[in-house]
Amino acid sequence: MTANDGVDARQLRNVLGRFFTGVTVVTTVDASGKAWGVTANSFTSVSLDPPLVLWNQGLTSLSFPVFEKAGRFTINILADDQIPVSQRFARSEENKFDGLAVTRGLGGVPVIDGCCATLECRKVATHDGGDHRIYIGEVERVYSNDRRPLLFGDGKYMVAQPVELTG
Ligand SMILES: Cc1cc2nc3c(=O)[nH]c(=O)nc-3n(C[C@H](O)[C@H](O)[C@H](O)COP(=O)(O)O)c2cc1C
Repeated sequence: MTANDGVDARQLRNVLGRFFTGVTVVTTVDASGKAWGVTANSFTSVSLDPPLVLWNQGLTSLSFPVFEKAGRFTINILADDQIPVSQRFARSEENKFDGLAVTRGLGGVPVIDGCCATLECRKVATHDGGDHRIYIGEVERVYSNDRRPLLFGDGKYMVAQPVELTG
């Protein structure tokens, strides 16, 4: 199978996996106040002034119609002891929040306890991105602590090994 003009889909996946990232759970609420969330490593910073970030979502995700409509989302950056949280939100189901400790943030969007950072965003733009939708958010409130972030690359979870530079 080819992804585009002779680029093999599996090879492309492998190459993209060489770009190691953090792991986030992006959360929102629907019109009824029900919480939704999805594990995503497509999160990236866009602009400092104004403060903009983006992430993108597969069009076939169960929660796609909810995020597409939502006016807000929150990026929850997972700490390295939150692999079970990542796994929970990487499954396609409706009640991922059962038994999970969260605080309701701006607009009632859930902020997951125990993360190493969070960014509460107002959605300001969406763009088509092939089989994904790109969401851009303006950051309205941030939080961070000293917990170590969870990493993901080559299809595996990892923990960060800091390197001290000398000289
Ligand atoms: C580490 C990791 C990163 C992921 N990143 C994304 C992403 O950026 N965008 C996306 O749409 N799905 C991503 N996924 C897959 C979704 O989490 C998965 O499809 C999930 O089932 C979607 O939930 P839903 O179908 O309930 O909406 C990722 C999964 C993992 C494990």
